[in-house]
Amino acid sequence: MQAANTGKRTVISIRPVFDSDRPKVYLETYGCQMNVNDSEVVVAIMQKAGYSVTKNIGDANLILINTCSVRDNAEQRVWGRLEYFRQEKKKRPNVSIGLIGCMAERLKESLLENNIVDVVVGPDAYRELPKLVEKTESGQKGINVLLSRDETYSDISPVRLDKTGVTAFISIMRGCNNVCAFCVVPYTRGGERSRNPETVLRELKELSDNGYREVTLLGQNVDSYSWKDVTFAGLLAMVAESAPEMRVRFSTSHPRDMTDDVLKTMAKYGNICNYIHLPVQSGSSAILQSMNRKYTREEYLQRIKTIREIMPDCAVSTDIIAGFCGETQKDHEDTLSLMREVGYDFAYMFKYSERPNTKAARHFKDDVPEDVKIRRLTEIIELQSELSLTSHKKDVGSIVEVLVEDTSKRSENDLCGRTPQNKTVVFPKGNNKIGDLVKIKITDCSQATLKGFAISGLLT
Ligand code: SAH
Ligand code: SF4
Ligand code: F3S
Repeated sequence: MQAANTGKRTVISIRPVFDSDRPKVYLETYGCQMNVNDSEVVVAIMQKAGYSVTKNIGDANLILINTCSVRDNAEQRVWGRLEYFRQEKKKRPNVSIGLIGCMAERLKESLLENNIVDVVVGPDAYRELPKLVEKTESGQKGINVLLSRDETYSDISPVRLDKTGVTAFISIMRGCNNVCAFCVVPYTRGGERSRNPETVLRELKELSDNGYREVTLLGQNVDSYSWKDVTFAGLLAMVAESAPEMRVRFSTSHPRDMTDDVLKTMAKYGNICNYIHLPVQSGSSAILQSMNRKYTREEYLQRIKTIREIMPDCAVSTDIIAGFCGETQKDHEDTLSLMREVGYDFAYMFKYSERPNTKAARHFKDDVPEDVKIRRLTEIIELQSELSLTSHKKDVGSIVEVLVEDTSKRSENDLCGRTPQNKTVVFPKGNNKIGDLVKIKITDCSQATLKGFAISGLLT
């Protein structure tokens, strides 16, 4: 990490180093936001060890692939990429290939058998990466997949890889202590541990000093954050107060663990976005029980009611799994009716994918036929499209505050950003630029985006 003296204050550089004289690392990331943030930690570690970053795989001395195991298709994508890397290695035998992250943790030594991968490193062993890569220079393989009880990388300032410098992640905890029957994460990421709040605030200050305008606090279950007497609600308040100029988001909340204190803290601070990602997984209490989610349909709906009482304008999104073991047509219909009842603003929807060694794989049969899973998932996706459109239509005619994150993918003349409720807005650029907070009058929508024009300056 370099410190540059700007005259006013010392700013830590959290941007990637591109330097032609250094060995170069090329990194690809799959999986969740935590994996994206872990890649930023990995780059910080590799930069400190003398590497620079390259976006061109053909220039790389080291290719890293940060992987996900959550569903079989996530792993299949990685196998596909490894075949491509095999070609790269044929052209340049000196290039080293490292497979890191959740798949490394799940499949361990077996990943070294294919003669593509040189280094395998699990999510808690990234500090060892430079040493293990060094071994490959003498033709050896390197592996470390030990899980840790206390590693949080809290002293490492992640090197931010996004290009726009507006939004960033801070991991506030690692691992998970829940045992949802379908889920591989507790096995790939180990037990839950929270991070010292002082180090969270230090990282927040670095982001703020570097001009970032939004932070998302990450954990598999943020509501069980705990450091001495600091709860998640307490941490959220500290973050919101320390960076009043920044928007604050968080993910993921667990319906059983989310407290009213968190909701009240969200309502109290204007810079905490009124948006909650609250994965339900299923609308059937019987399925929720076999999933070991530890709440019923009714308890979930009660949570939603409380959210709406405390924050009437709060948006809610969810995760849903179609076709879990033993799911009947009636269970599926319960999921559809719950979706309608909540009126989700957005959802991530998946077909159940059995993961080896999970509770479900050990105790239940993956007995919903593939064609039925596909049909149910399609129905869920179609319903959510309707719900998303309904949610967006309600915003037409209103004025929303948008943090500009990028140029629109469709047109250079448009900018895009999100509302506090996490809805994507596209509007003509005018004099506005990336990083601005702009008031937008919404005039039109689709199920995916809101469209409008900037009225900043007209309002006080
Ligand atoms: N910690 C978060 C989610 C982590 S995984 C939480 O508790 O909600 C992200 C999502 O992937 C899950 O919410 C679930 O919907 C989905 N998922 C996890 N395992 C899966 C599996 N075996 N098959 C299909 N979807 C799965
Ligand atoms: Fe997986 Fe459940 Fe932990 Fe989320 S809370 S990571 S779904 S075990
Ligand atoms: Fe994330 Fe996938 Fe691992 S969802 S925690 S990268 S298994």
